[in-house]
Amino acid sequence: MNLAVKHDVTALLSQRGGAVPRYTSYPTAPHFEAGLGPAMQAELCAALDETDPVSVYLHVPFCDRLCWFCGCNTKHTLKYEPVRTYVDALLDEIAGFGKSLGFRPRAGQVHFGGGSPSILSAGDMGRIGAALREAFVVGPQTEISVEIDPSDVTEETLRGLGDLGVTRASVGVQDFDPLVQRAINRPQTFEQTRDVIAAMRAAGVGSVNIDALYGLPLQTRPRLMRTIDQVVSLDPDRIALFGYAHVPWVKKHQKMIKDEHLPDMHERFQQALAAGAALAEAGYDTIGIDHFAKPGDGLAVAARSGHLRRNFQGYTTDRCHALIPFGASSIGAFEGGYVQNIVATGQYQEAVRSGRSAAAKGYRMTADDRIRAHMIERLMCDFRISFDDLEARFGDAAEPYVNEAVALAEADADFVCGADPDGFFVPDTARPFTRLVAARFDAHLKGSDFRYSKAV
Ligand SMILES: C[S@@+](CC[C@H](N)C(=O)[O-])C[C@H]1O[C@@H](n2cnc3c(N)ncnc32)[C@H](O)[C@@H]1O
Ligand code: SF4
Repeated sequence: MNLAVKHDVTALLSQRGGAVPRYTSYPTAPHFEAGLGPAMQAELCAALDETDPVSVYLHVPFCDRLCWFCGCNTKHTLKYEPVRTYVDALLDEIAGFGKSLGFRPRAGQVHFGGGSPSILSAGDMGRIGAALREAFVVGPQTEISVEIDPSDVTEETLRGLGDLGVTRASVGVQDFDPLVQRAINRPQTFEQTRDVIAAMRAAGVGSVNIDALYGLPLQTRPRLMRTIDQVVSLDPDRIALFGYAHVPWVKKHQKMIKDEHLPDMHERFQQALAAGAALAEAGYDTIGIDHFAKPGDGLAVAARSGHLRRNFQGYTTDRCHALIPFGASSIGAFEGGYVQNIVATGQYQEAVRSGRSAAAKGYRMTADDRIRAHMIERLMCDFRISFDDLEARFGDAAEPYVNEAVALAEADADFVCGADPDGFFVPDTARPFTRLVAARFDAHLKGSDFRYSKAV
């Protein structure tokens, strides 16, 4: 990919202060409104159709280590007691949802995120599994995925994952280089990771994803490329390669990372390109802006057929119309909008215990949001917005948006987008700048003072 020919990389990476949303939703979470949670939760439930499968997200905000790079919503604990207390609240929330709904929707996908859901005891995995089966129809068609910190995994964890019927494990690697690991406070050997993956496969987990990061402190291209080679040697079905989001003004522990150890924006950019090229060379299909999958994997198949979706977990094959959230800070989504649970674990537990709604924030989609959300999702997934598709979905209402897209393409002086009779697109060479292009369709970004992470 010869970007130097056309793109002023420095100017592009500096646009909007070099920071734009990752667009795992539109509008993005900073625009959700306080106090609207319970109303949106009620609307979400009312919108559910007995015949439609739903997706379920459960958040486990605990880890038995604290990695300094971590941007997730989690709490460090060396004791299991707080986890057990939290699981009690989670069970109450799931049961309360089931009762209020009055029917058992089919679960298409269930995702355990964190934090580290791998911290759960086998007993608690079993209790959550039973609660889910009570409230939802969970069957062989249900995909169950769990985020795994390999340092947690014991024989007991493996038993718990097997009993839960986990179909995909998403394993955190980040980087295998010892120097980088020291700079992010995350020791984890290649051998340990390899053995955990082999044991999970033996326990019946059919598909494995690995998370790796670029832009970490002390990371250099040679170090990253070695990690990428090691990741490929583990033969994962999918790989997520995220740019490290350094947001110490939000995540105070990231202050432990020295600014002078962070690669500059050009080095980050080159790392992303080099790692992406190595994964493509190793036979992985590039999925959207930061995922890779074997050509036969469902994610790659969905990408080829135009059915790739994007939700709060990143790229997904999930076609369900509703995502039901459980746990502190969890976000749910449906056609009418979004709902987010209370973020603070203690307050979340208190709300559930006292029978109040755990939902705190919400967002009700306007007609304008719906069209822009669809355009941004298609750009992030396909690098293209089809005008026929817009018109088929939104009828006459699509026209001003088609005009806006054409005008954006005509005004573009950065060679990052274009328009043809079929649609608006990001050319292959400009794919690393897709978040910047998507931001041009974001009507909420203007006037927002929220500080996002780096666009590349
Ligand atoms: C919620 S974590 C779960 C994984 C598990 N706890 C672990 O660390 O192995 C999911 C992924 O988010 C990514 N992540 C965490 N903090 C990040 C940050 N500041 N910037 C970019 N990605 C980040 C990491 O790749 C991590 O594996
Ligand atoms: S990266 Fe994973 S294990 Fe580390 S603190 Fe974040 S959620 Fe926990």
